[in-house]
Amino acid sequence: MYADLNLPRDSGPESSSPSSLPRDVCQGPPWHQFALKLGCAGIIILALVVTGLSVSVTSLIQKSSREKCSVNIQQNMSKTTERPILLNCPISWEKVGEKCLLLSHTVNPWNNSLADCSTKESSLLIIRDKEELRLTQKLIHDKAVPFWIGLKFSLTEKKWKWINDSFLNSDELKITGDTKENSCVYISQTSVFSEYCSTENKWICQKELTPVRNKVYRDS
Ligand SMILES: *[C@@H]1O[C@H](CO)[C@@H](O)[C@H](O)[C@H]1NC(C)=O
Ligand SMILES: *[C@@H]1O[C@H](CO)[C@@H](O)[C@H](O)[C@H]1NC(C)=O
Ligand SMILES: *[C@@H]1O[C@H](CO)[C@@H](O)[C@H](O)[C@H]1NC(C)=O
Repeated sequence: MYADLNLPRDSGPESSSPSSLPRDVCQGPPWHQFALKLGCAGIIILALVVTGLSVSVTSLIQKSSREKCSVNIQQNMSKTTERPILLNCPISWEKVGEKCLLLSHTVNPWNNSLADCSTKESSLLIIRDKEELRLTQKLIHDKAVPFWIGLKFSLTEKKWKWINDSFLNSDELKITGDTKENSCVYISQTSVFSEYCSTENKWICQKELTPVRNKVYRDS
């Protein structure tokens, strides 16, 4: 009788073994649990470190690219300010308003005059307004001598065109003479004339002064 009762008990461990297996994994011995917690903490710390590192690396990259960008901007700014800053006129150039003018002593056709001004890092004179014309004409001492300026008849557009590619505003200058092919403009002490570009005349080169007020704005 006793033996009958004992039999199911003997088989008990067999049937209860599946339920005791998860108990081992979940709880296990105390050192196992501790190791598990330690491992979890380690993983969390690792994840935090990796996140932190990647964030700082990203911000570093962004910062360096920002710096590169600002270096570029500075380079570009210095490039634009690299243009020779001319606050005073070079020796033998005359100051007229915010320009330095040089009246040639020799004569040349218009195209050679244009080329000569480029070699002097300047351009043939472009007259902004009547006041500039008046001031420039005051520099001309000899009544009889004409000077080429940077104004030429454009055959394609049938208009007077400044060498900076702007068309003449007819209110600025009244040109005496023909408006036709191969015509260029010279000024004399009293007038503005049209003349064959191949004619040999003196000429006027201009350099623009860097306005001082721009510098002040930049610095402040
Ligand atoms: C600087 O100028 C160069 C060309 O001159 C241009 O390619 C570059 O984008 C400019 N950089 C900035 C930051 O403006
Ligand atoms: C100016 O034009 C003349 C005649 O067409 C030519 O011989 C000369 O080379 C030209 N000068 C320049 C600087 O282009
Ligand atoms: C060219 O010069 C004329 C006459 O001074 C001026 O009105 C015009 O704005 C200038 N154009 C350019 C593109 O600088």
